[in-house]
Amino acid sequence: IPVEDFDLVIFGATGDLAKRKILPGLFRRYVAGQITDNCRIIGAARSQMDDNGFRAEATQAIAEFTKTPADDPQLAGFLKLLSYVPIDAKGTEGWAVLKERMRSGVVRAFYFSVAPSLFGDIAERLADNGIADANSRIVVEKPFGRDLATAKALNATLARHFHEGQIYRIDHYLGKETVQNLMAVRFANILFEPLWNAQYVDHVQITVAETVGIGGRGGYYDQSGAMRDMVQNHMMQLLCLTAMEPPYHFDPDAVRDEKLKVIRALEPVGVDDIVRGQYRARGDEPDYLTDAENPDSRTESYVALKVLISNWRWQGTPFYLRTGKKLRARTSEIAVVFREPPHSIFDDDEGQRPNELVIRLQPNEGMNLKVMIKEPGPGGMRLVQVPLDMSFAEALGPEGADMPDAYERLIMDVIRGNQTLFMRGDEVEAAWAWTDPIIAAWENGKDRPEGYDAGSSGPEEALRLLHRDNRRWREIA
Ligand code: BG6
Repeated sequence: IPVEDFDLVIFGATGDLAKRKILPGLFRRYVAGQITDNCRIIGAARSQMDDNGFRAEATQAIAEFTKTPADDPQLAGFLKLLSYVPIDAKGTEGWAVLKERMRSGVVRAFYFSVAPSLFGDIAERLADNGIADANSRIVVEKPFGRDLATAKALNATLARHFHEGQIYRIDHYLGKETVQNLMAVRFANILFEPLWNAQYVDHVQITVAETVGIGGRGGYYDQSGAMRDMVQNHMMQLLCLTAMEPPYHFDPDAVRDEKLKVIRALEPVGVDDIVRGQYRARGDEPDYLTDAENPDSRTESYVALKVLISNWRWQGTPFYLRTGKKLRARTSEIAVVFREPPHSIFDDDEGQRPNELVIRLQPNEGMNLKVMIKEPGPGGMRLVQVPLDMSFAEALGPEGADMPDAYERLIMDVIRGNQTLFMRGDEVEAAWAWTDPIIAAWENGKDRPEGYDAGSSGPEEALRLLHRDNRRWREIA
């Protein structure tokens, strides 16, 4: 179903995100028929370029990231929607031209794909020049601040010109099909929810493991580290969706209210409950310090932590989170490990293992429920655990194999005016309020992150985080 006609302005249209995600994503939605020929996409950036220059850049980006040949007929149609305005975010150049370019009677959306230091300038100029109206939407990218104070300042800056209902803060993990599927699994089935609490769940493991290093973006990453780059946002969202109470409706504020309650219920993390690591060289692969071009860096490229949620549902059930760069495999998953049955009726219960529900977010998206059955054969009642394994690609056919990229979904939601999959200001601030003391303790201390070999499963110390609780991490494979 096509979305309403829109004028979408992309600030930072010549940047990496626009080329890698935004333009290819918009093109795919055009091909899918969701964006009609009556929509306009206006690139805005500092470079001096005309419409055709921008179209040529877009053609190249789309070719690279969607494997579409430059003479594709649909690409020609898409390029007609594009135009370009050179603009100075901090000055006066371009704003009058942009104003003229905007049509009335269509949805106006402004994508701030620029450094956060420019958010305020752009918001102000959009408002002062009368380019944005009360119905316009703005889209902002992470990092949304680097601590509570800067996030609050950013929220206040945006709030001077836009109300909360107009602000779409992107966390692209929420756009992933499998992440949304978490809500479907939990709230569209009766099977899981009765067991989804501390009485039946022993613990939860949330893993986002990456094989890539930080090469090429060390300047940004070294100032952030895994805690700011992944835990405060993406991991936090996964934690919230796993732990939250059922919202009364799948509605933006209902969902975000429940997520916020989870964040507010998080206990502060003690130094013993967190491990940070930094990758070491292996073979030809450089170490973190070389990639970061900072020989003294104490920034973490890996973090593992034990998180406790102080509420009725989760009292006493730890959530173990880990994420890192240059690990053995690229895999993101949420594993809910249930308790063992309270009593065994079987004489030979050696094979007994706890049930486990693993939701694979990427790659090989799917779900795996591990259940106990009788081992076939005449040898008496012996137990064995088997997987009930479902892969999206197999269960859903081509649609399951070819899922839209997170950005496609999210940009279409902006046009539809649906904020469910975007972070609300108070949510971001609460996440920083919990993250800040952890980072402050590191920054004020003298310890270095523990080294781990590139291509390994992370630092040894992270294993001990679970061993001391008589638990084990799942393999990163
Ligand atoms: C980004 C982080 O937000 O998410 C990157 O800045 C990280 O460091 C990326 O690699 C992971 O996203 P995905 O979609 O590849 O899992």
